[in-house]
Amino acid sequence: MSMSRRTAAWGRILALLLCAGWLAPAGSQEARIQLGTPIDEDQLSGFDLIAAPDGSGMPPGAGTARQGRSVYELNCLRCHAVNGEGVSGNTVIAGGDMRSEESPLRTVGSYWPHASTLFDFIRRAMPADAPKTLSDDEVYQVTAYVLFLNGIVGEDESINSETLTAIAMPNGDGFVDHSHLH
Ligand code: HEC
Repeated sequence: MSMSRRTAAWGRILALLLCAGWLAPAGSQEARIQLGTPIDEDQLSGFDLIAAPDGSGMPPGAGTARQGRSVYELNCLRCHAVNGEGVSGNTVIAGGDMRSEESPLRTVGSYWPHASTLFDFIRRAMPADAPKTLSDDEVYQVTAYVLFLNGIVGEDESINSETLTAIAMPNGDGFVDHSHLH
C-alpha cells in the first residue's frame, strides 16, 4: 500500500468515527445527541417517591394488616411465600435475628431501622415483576401486613403517615449515627 493510499484509508476511518460520534469535537455533544423527550409534572411524580423517616413524602392513605392480607396474597405471595418466609435468602421478609451467634438473617423485622423505609420500598419497587402498580392505600395495607408478620403491629392497627413514622423498629437502635460528627 502506498503512502497516499494509506493516508486516504485512515482519513475514511476518521470520517466514519466522526459520523458515528465516537470522536466528537468538544462542545458539540448537546447539539448532536438528541435522546429522549422532556417529561411533564405528572410523569415526574412517578419518580419522586421518597418517603423519609421524618414523615416527609408520605402520601395520604391508611390500611390495616387485615386488609393487607389479600393484597399480599394477590401480589406478593408468589415470591415471598406464606408468612413472608420467602423462596430464597433475599425474599425472606419476616423473622430473623441480627444478634444471633449464627450467621444473622436480615429481614424487615430484624434489620430495617425505619418503618417508613418499608412503605417507600414497597411503593417504589414491589411487586418486583410489576412495580408501582399498587395504590397508596394498598401499599399502606400491605406494609401493615408485613409489619404484622414481624410482630410489630396488631392485625387491626391502622397504619398511616403518622402512625408509621412513630413505630419503633426492633433494630432501630442497631445503627450508629455519625451525622453529628460532620
Ligand atoms: C416476582 C417476585 C416478587 C414479587 C411478586 C414481590 N417481591 Fe418483594 N422482593 C423480591 C425479591 C427478589 C427481593 C429481593 C430484592 C433484593 O434483595 O434486591 C424482594 C425484596 C422485598 C423486600 C425487602 C426485603 C429485604 O429485607 O431486603 C420487601 C419488604 C418486599 N420485597 C416486599 C414485597 C411486597 C409487599 C410484595 C407485594 C406487594 C412483593 N415484595 C412482591 C421479589 C418479589
